[in-house]
Amino acid sequence: MITTVRGVRDILPAEMPGWRLLEQTARQIFSSYGYQELRTPIFEKTELFARAVGATSDIVEKEMYTFADRGGDSLSLRPEGTASVVRAFIENNLQRTLPWAIYYMGPMFRYERPQKGRFRQFHQMGCELFGAEGPLADAEMMAMVLRFLRRIGVESSLTLEINSLGCSQCREPYRGQLLAFLQTRFESLCEHCRQRLQRNPLRILDCKGEGCRAVARQAPFMKDHLCGACGEHFQGLTTTLTDLQLPFAINPLMVRGLDYYNRTAFEVTTTALGTQNAVAAGGRYDGLVAEMGGVQTPAIGFAMGMERLALLLDAARVDASPPLLYLVAVGAAAGQRGVLLAEQWRDGGLPVVLDPLGGSMKAQLKRADRAGARFVLILGERELAEQAVLMKNMVDGVQQVLGWDAVVAQCSGLLT
Ligand code: HAM
Repeated sequence: MITTVRGVRDILPAEMPGWRLLEQTARQIFSSYGYQELRTPIFEKTELFARAVGATSDIVEKEMYTFADRGGDSLSLRPEGTASVVRAFIENNLQRTLPWAIYYMGPMFRYERPQKGRFRQFHQMGCELFGAEGPLADAEMMAMVLRFLRRIGVESSLTLEINSLGCSQCREPYRGQLLAFLQTRFESLCEHCRQRLQRNPLRILDCKGEGCRAVARQAPFMKDHLCGACGEHFQGLTTTLTDLQLPFAINPLMVRGLDYYNRTAFEVTTTALGTQNAVAAGGRYDGLVAEMGGVQTPAIGFAMGMERLALLLDAARVDASPPLLYLVAVGAAAGQRGVLLAEQWRDGGLPVVLDPLGGSMKAQLKRADRAGARFVLILGERELAEQAVLMKNMVDGVQQVLGWDAVVAQCSGLLT
């Protein structure tokens, strides 16, 4: 038997009501804040991600699905959405029509070690906003994320964490200080962090290793070394979040794993999923559009992991939309007629599920029950002769005989 690739899974029909709830709620809420949908390709030139996400980031160095196509070009499956959105923004000359507010949803690919809530093909829903510079936009975006999480009923186990990563001006001197500090604690760092100390000392702050975490807690924090403008931005953000009555925690150790961020970084974390605790994450990337060849444009965005959200959903709250009418046709002649009648009733606007396996009445009724059908229409030999069906309410057991011609008129009322 050929199985799926490790870290990749089917989303089975039983899970789909939850996924649809996530998608529908996201569309509703994002569009109510003025966002429009964008669909970008699943694969892009490798160079796009190397430049946008960062050539030395874990994602680009170790996690991308990269391949040469038949023409010899290096392509990669997208590990995230922001790089493609920035490319689309520049390539389609959208810089003249700011603000540009877009949302996207779809599969992303990272060669990570699979575990609960972490997959190699996973799905994100995200938003990107181009043109807004001030902290009001940051706070409003977080309010939108929290509204979404509230609407789907999962906010109780969640915390909004924020930090500032500074800008090119204040981060360089801070990086020097941090590096100097970490060098004095070299012996306490894990092997991986020792290796990346020179290249990317900031990432050491969010290493999960025990020793590294103890060192990180004593390290100088970026938020205490912000330049005037970055400090004001962060202050503006915390004030607005307070005005909006959105609870938040400042996490000075949050650094994010993608290189394009500056100033605001945020994550919504949960206590319910073990180590893969971020359900939403994002931040500002004011320099990225210019770095990718566009006109300098401030931007901010976030993405949420759909698998993680689906794990948090309360299954009982999700409507599985069971069949309204389930047609049970018993015997060959009734089966023959049942196909025609079902089509005729569907022409009349009714949703009708015709039992596809046939067989005894008992077996078909059992399947109707399992499917959660609300009404069963029984077509046996007697009903066939009378050009009628026996309609049974599966909740209270009440039955009535309906002529074939009366089914549409009688059942249309059940649709509301
Ligand atoms: P990210 O933190 O890499 O950011 O991913 C965002 C979210 O995607 C995570 O918080 C998590 O919920 C989900 N996620 C990431 N990797 C996996 C995985 N292997 N399996 C399951 N879920 C996963 C970004 O991707 C940025 N593009 C977000 C952003 C948009 N920043 C600005 N705009």
